[in-house]
Amino acid sequence: MPSRVTIVEVSPRDGLQNEKAVLPVAAKVALVDALSAAGVPVIEVTSFVSPKAIPQLADAEQVMAAITRRPGARYTVLVPNERGYDRALTTRPDGIVVFGAASETFSQKNINCSVAESIERFRPVVARAKANGLQVRGTVSCALGCPYEGDIAPAAVRDVAARLLDLGVDELSIADTIGVGTPERTRAVFEAVLALTDATRVNAHFHDTYGRALVNLEACLALGVRSIDASAAGLGGCPFAPGATGNVATEAVLAMLAASGYETGVDLAAVQAAGAAVRRLLAP
Ligand code: HMG
Ligand code: MG
Repeated sequence: MPSRVTIVEVSPRDGLQNEKAVLPVAAKVALVDALSAAGVPVIEVTSFVSPKAIPQLADAEQVMAAITRRPGARYTVLVPNERGYDRALTTRPDGIVVFGAASETFSQKNINCSVAESIERFRPVVARAKANGLQVRGTVSCALGCPYEGDIAPAAVRDVAARLLDLGVDELSIADTIGVGTPERTRAVFEAVLALTDATRVNAHFHDTYGRALVNLEACLALGVRSIDASAAGLGGCPFAPGATGNVATEAVLAMLAASGYETGVDLAAVQAAGAAVRRLLAP
């Protein structure tokens, strides 16, 4: 088993999208730059979504224009539709994320369409991104449970994952949107997805609502998953997933990985400083 794990920092996107306070562009850029300097290999910078849906990230173009890109690091953005792709493309991302769900109700609340419609919306986006040489991630939200529908069957996750793979995504991100997973459920869901594709193409995205994200990530690691989303200071949540709290904290993930002998190339103290700085700005 390879001992290197890729940390994907989602605090600038998942973290800031869920905060009441809207940080100025300069503060967002400072966060991204601090994470780059900490050695984070992949940073989810922002989202090209409707500013009515997520006003916190309405400045996506400005943020992307102002960050300092560390050679070798990748800067990715969320894109819900072709309109978002047109906007994103002007900012030269390294990769994009199309985000679907294993729950019909969450799909409607989050992106205002059914799961089947979302796949059709993503189809031209993925095709254009591949033609432009961008890396494409497909996310499956509510993989471990839905705030509206409750339990979600692993087969439902597998089906959406299969449809995303058919579109041509390079990577799947399997997301516990509201942090309800247990190690046993996590294993069942990830095993279902790993029946479709290699573990090198699967990422784990856990929110830590009930403090179980780390044990769930350990279950993913045991299955060979080596890409983990995490958020400095544990910021995060989705405004369309009531009750969801932050993503698993990058600081906690780094400490857990180091204790288990995995390498990440990320400087824990530098991430701690970046997380503390953004928390100070967000404090009322
Ligand atoms: P819609 O209302 O169905 O779209 O929204 P529409 O095409 O009918 O357009 C409605 C309005 O939005 C129009 O403006 C469009 O121009 C505008 P108006 O005419 O009313 O002034 N619009 C856009 N503006 C800017 N950029 C765009 C764009 N598209 C349309 N790309 C849509 C559909 C998907 C756009 C909307 O529902 C939306 O933006 N949703 C975003 C939801 C979101 O960002 N959620 C959080 C991220 S997902 C997440 O956090 C989960 C994750 O972390 C994993 C996990 O934890 O599960 C990834
Ligand atoms: Mg999330």
